[in-house]
Amino acid sequence: MRTTLLAIISVAAFLGLAYAGAPEGKPIYVAKCQGCHAPNGEGKPAIAKMFNVTLPALGSKEIQAKSDADLKKVITEGHGKMKPVAGLEERQVADVVAFVRTLKE
Ligand code: HEC
Repeated sequence: MRTTLLAIISVAAFLGLAYAGAPEGKPIYVAKCQGCHAPNGEGKPAIAKMFNVTLPALGSKEIQAKSDADLKKVITEGHGKMKPVAGLEERQVADVVAFVRTLKE
């Protein structure tokens, strides 16, 4: 009984790790973020100029220090001059946040 329970817990933990979301998040990033933030998250100079802001590198300590909840909020509610990103389901938002974590410098 106890071993069954342990087995169930480890399978669930394994699935949780396997579903880190980053691979699913990449195409979403490419479609919804890359146009402004560049493939590596550094930010496109032309966009920074257009918005008259300094685009923070998404892989920087400053951004990576934010919680997943904070990053989700930036995406769904916008931040400063960044408008909310439309057309993403909750799960896609989580996936793209997982991808942003892979940009860590
Ligand atoms: C149309 C251009 C554009 C798109 C598309 C865009 N962003 Fe942004 N993003 C910006 C700008 C401009 C800022 C800086 C806003 C400011 O400082 O006023 C920014 C800032 C950010 C920040 C930093 C927020 C902070 O707390 O400083 C994060 C994180 C971010 N964007 C993530 C994303 C993600 C993830 C996506 C895709 C789901 C995305 N952005 C799509 C333009 C964009």
